Formats: sequence, structure tokens, C-alpha cells
Amino acid sequence: MSAQARILVVDDTPANVKLLADLLAVKGYAVVTAGGGREGLERVACDKPDLVLLDVMMPDLNGYEVCRSIRADPATAALPVVLVTALTDTDDRIRGIDAGADDFLSKPFNRHELLARVRSLLRLKRYTDDLDTAESVIVSLALTIEARDSNTDGHCQRLAAYAVSLGRALGLDEDDVAALERGGYLHDVGKVGIPDAVLLKPGPLTHDEFLLMKQHTVIGDRLCGELRSLRKVRPIVRCHHERLDGTGYPDGLRGDAIPLLAQLMGIVDVFDALTTVRPYKAALPRARAVEELKAEAALGWRRADLVGTFLSLVERDLP
Ligand SMILES: [Fe+2]
Repeated sequence: MSAQARILVVDDTPANVKLLADLLAVKGYAVVTAGGGREGLERVACDKPDLVLLDVMMPDLNGYEVCRSIRADPATAALPVVLVTALTDTDDRIRGIDAGADDFLSKPFNRHELLARVRSLLRLKRYTDDLDTAESVIVSLALTIEARDSNTDGHCQRLAAYAVSLGRALGLDEDDVAALERGGYLHDVGKVGIPDAVLLKPGPLTHDEFLLMKQHTVIGDRLCGELRSLRKVRPIVRCHHERLDGTGYPDGLRGDAIPLLAQLMGIVDVFDALTTVRPYKAALPRARAVEELKAEAALGWRRADLVGTFLSLVERDLP
């Protein structure tokens, strides 16, 4: 990676830009430059750098603001950012850390130190890129499974949208909402391990077939494995068929032992399954699906308050 890595240098002083750009170019890096914060953000979006060296004091957008914008965009949240600054005050460092900077370089900088930090941050970038790739493989797998079963066309997208609406309505934080969105796509990824004869069977499953089908939760959990980026999604994958009274699967968890995000996915999954055609049944009208969810809450399978919030969204024509 080091020879082709692209580094963006953002500084409003042309001499500083030239100094850094020359130093990095000699080492074989591709260098992109910007003369201010706003231009820097444009370059981040267009040139997709692997690392940003960012001046702090700039007239339009300062380095802290640029760094915050980079962190706020999911597409660039993991992009390494080094603040290059003449400021040595601890408060300024704390501001930089708060803004999401990965590292600092003090001006005037030592070129060996600069190159060592660049190398180490590019290693980190390559590592996070690999994680993203691994996650995108799992998401493609999930969509392949959906494609295998023409009856569930669009199920993942709808579930992601419903779950996000429900999470927002409940005031969950953005991390949880993001996990719900990914969970919508990934909840049934374990069905990759279920044979077509069972997955697509146009009638009720036998006892043994149902035992096999239940395994999709465990297989999916295992597929998400150690991916750090899926840490919050795994409980959704494993536990979305659990019921509060302990009659669900795969672990027979009860009550609060079932992770909240998995409970939410369970509710929207049932609703979508009922209102769309499946190999073994026709689609129900929304009103019938609403009754069914209320009945499941009354049976003690689902939290009535969560079902109530979801149904108020359904009334307002989700998502
Ligand atoms: Fe499932």
C-alpha cells in the first residue's frame, strides 16, 4: 500500500503545503493538496485519500471543524487524520482529540517522525479497509440469500427501514440506529446454511426441518464472527426469534435477557413476514398483521410498549 497510498495535505500556507507534499512525494506517496478547510473536505469526497494531514489554524473552516465533518460522514469516519499544528497547549490537543484526530504533529516537524507516523496510520487504514471489505462480503451474502427466495424480495430493505424508524421513535442513539439498519440486512444471513428444500418449501416444515431452520440464527451469529464493526449487530442476528416468555430460539432467553435491538428486529420481522407473500402463505392485510402483533404481545412474547410504538408508526404509514 505504501507506494500507492494517497495523502491529502490541507494547509492555507502554500509554503507548508509544498514542504509536506515534496517530502511525501519523494517517498512514493500520491499527494493531493488543498489550500483551506472547505477545499479539503471537497478533496476528501472526490479523491478518497488514505490519510489527511490537516493544518489547525485556517481562515475558512479550521482543522477541528474539518476533522469533525470527516468523522460525521460514515463513508470517511475511519479515515486517519493528523492535525499539524504549532499549538502545543494541552487544551488544543484535547480539542483535537474531541474532534476525532488520530494523531498530532507539532510544527516545525521532524521529517523522520512525520514519515513514521504516516506509515503507522496507513497500516491502520489498511486494517480498517479490510474490515469494511469483510463486512461488505457478509452484506452481499445476505442479499444473495434474499435473491434465492423470490418471495422475500425487498424484505431486507424494508426491515432496515422499519427498524430505523422504530429505533428513532424510541429515541435510541445513532449507534443503535445504525446497528438496526445493518441488522435489517443481516438478520437472516445464516440462511445461507439452510438448504433450498427447507428454505423454499411451499408448506409447513416438519419437526426436523424446523430444527434445521432455527439454526440460521446460530450460523449467522458465527458468520459475523469477530468483525468489530458488527459487534452490535450480532445480538440482533442471534436473538431476533427469541420471545419474552422463553419459548423462542435459539437460546430460549427470557425478558430483558433478550437484547433490546433484537426484540425490535423481532417485531418488525413478524410484521413484514405477515404482510408479504411467503412460500407457505398469502400476504395478510396490514390490519390483520396489527392484530397478530397485539396478540403476540398479549401472549407475553413481545413487549407491549414496543409493539405499541411500532403500531403507531404503522398507523402513520411507515417508515
Ligand atoms: Fe430469521
